[in-house]
Amino acid sequence: MGQEPDRYERRRRLLAELGRDPVRLVAARVPPHEAVLDVGCASGSFLSLLSGARSRVGVDVDARLVGRARAEVPGATFEIMDAADLRSLEARFDVVTVLHTLAHVVDPIAVLQACHDVLTAGGTLVAAVNASGHLREFWEAVGDPLEREDTDTPQDALLNLVGAVFPGAGLEIVTGRVRAHREALMILADTYSVPASQVERLDRHLESTVEMGTWDVTTRLGIVSAVRSGVSRATMSATETA
Ligand SMILES: C[S@@+](CC[C@H](N)C(=O)[O-])C[C@H]1O[C@@H](n2cnc3c(N)ncnc32)[C@H](O)[C@@H]1O
Repeated sequence: MGQEPDRYERRRRLLAELGRDPVRLVAARVPPHEAVLDVGCASGSFLSLLSGARSRVGVDVDARLVGRARAEVPGATFEIMDAADLRSLEARFDVVTVLHTLAHVVDPIAVLQACHDVLTAGGTLVAAVNASGHLREFWEAVGDPLEREDTDTPQDALLNLVGAVFPGAGLEIVTGRVRAHREALMILADTYSVPASQVERLDRHLESTVEMGTWDVTTRLGIVSAVRSGVSRATMSATETA
């Protein structure tokens, strides 16, 4: 096993720090006393914030992450499961969350249809994606390695996707600030295969900018929500909160 699990865990925790505040903002939108299913739950960090829920179930295909979730969030139930197979769960849910996950599944429409079928009538689907402008300062410093053509923004693409299964889905944009550690930003650069020359540019920038090893960066989250009946409960207009 060697250092690998520790290194993996450190990377996971540092990256999770970058997303912690946006995840809290989603958690704050889930009313207490509901039965909640989190699809693509990873190590359960979102469900750990919902201690007021009536019941909490998380599913993920990654057995290692589900093992961590079981150890770290004892009040919830976790299953190793493909999101397309949700209907095999016995329970039905008032709230189904799919956070930063639809881009990773083979057939997102099939997953959304499965989410629809495990919601109670009037239950709420909440999906989230990093919106354009997320970690803006970071991408400005390294240069965006992804050739972004004039296609839909990630949040519009998510709205269209969810809207195909849940008519009346609504989009809310939430903006915040997070204190990012230099190491987390370097891991992020590695994760996105930012070329070495651009990483050097980031490093120089961080040397001149970073105070006490941290850097405040902008977070932007696109939250799409809809109810099973097809009538949106979401705030339809974009909302900016700092
Ligand atoms: C980017 S992570 C997001 C994790 C967490 N929801 C969050 O917001 O931090 C995507 C997660 O989806 C899981 N995943 C990918 N494909 C899946 C599938 N077909 N069924 C269930 N989970 C899946 C991955 O294992 C991973 O934990």
